[in-house]
Amino acid sequence: MVLSLNSIKAPIEIELKTFQSRFREAMQSHVPLMDKVMQYIVRRKGKQVRPMFVFLSAKLCDDTNDSTYHAASLVELLHTATLVHDDVVDDSLERRGFFSINALWKNKIAVLVGDYLLSQGLLLALDNDEFQLLKIVSRAVKEMSEGELLQIEKARRLDIKEDIYYDIIRKKTASLIAAACCAGAASATKDPHKIDAMREFGEKIGIAFQIRDDLLDFSEEEIGKPKGIDVKEKKMTLPLIYALNHTDRKQRNYIINIIKNKSTEPDKVVEVLNFVRNSGGIPYAQEAMYRYRTEAFEILHTFPDCPARDSLEQLVTFVTERRK
Ligand code: IPE
Ligand code: IPE
Ligand code: MG
Ligand code: MG
Repeated sequence: MVLSLNSIKAPIEIELKTFQSRFREAMQSHVPLMDKVMQYIVRRKGKQVRPMFVFLSAKLCDDTNDSTYHAASLVELLHTATLVHDDVVDDSLERRGFFSINALWKNKIAVLVGDYLLSQGLLLALDNDEFQLLKIVSRAVKEMSEGELLQIEKARRLDIKEDIYYDIIRKKTASLIAAACCAGAASATKDPHKIDAMREFGEKIGIAFQIRDDLLDFSEEEIGKPKGIDVKEKKMTLPLIYALNHTDRKQRNYIINIIKNKSTEPDKVVEVLNFVRNSGGIPYAQEAMYRYRTEAFEILHTFPDCPARDSLEQLVTFVTERRK
């Protein structure tokens, strides 16, 4: 079955429509160049799964309200900010099927654009006295920068173990998806058990989300961003860790030497990609991803059955099957 985002969106159709215009509003600037870049970003929007998690989590706990909109905008603004910065960090020239901000306007401008998005998000929360939201989300942003930095630190030493990989992806990706679910729930209920459960749910999904993203780096299809870039950037992702741990010493040293010293040579990167594709590392990472998905479903099933729960279930499946 091919899951479309459209059917998942059904219970929150009105919310998502209103969200679009509020989000666009938060991206405006009176500085012409900033406004130009903002328009470029708005026209090339992503999948917007995080706002969907915010709205559906609120619906699951009760219903959406004004605070839910603030949460959705804040989370997507921060997500966009981190993507703009991430492409600088990763030296990546393609995002969402188009040129990245750093590709078009260079790093200096991309850094400032990311900062602008971040501060617009914080102001949006402050202007509406959303202190609880601000606390939930700021914690995630702090973890995201720690996660990205930890990744750089580990890229210099290529002997990372699975627990460090999970620590990195929990921080750099799962923290914001956990915050999205937590903030959505917190906008609708005061029940701490429900809020905690949704945070936990979001963390599991966030980990599955990043494993899927790391698998896409080995994909043969078009994904809207560069492929093989994780190898090029010396990122030790789960399929690669598995492959290196399940080969002989000679091969292992050979591959490690490529990653260490030749990762800018496209032919050599392809060699590493094929080595991983032939190692069993892909199905291994898929299995790990499905384990997190199962754990997420278990948490979801502690909530009563309703259209929002149905959609969340489908959204989880979408996240783990997505092709971009
Ligand atoms: C990309 O996130 C960054 C990761 C955490 C892997 P998305 O895949 O949600 O990006 P967009 O917003 O849809 O482009
Ligand atoms: C996730 O890591 C980035 C963030 C959490 C901002 P990646 O570097 O793998 O994300 P993509 O592949 O560039 O979207
Ligand atoms: Mg990146
Ligand atoms: Mg990636």
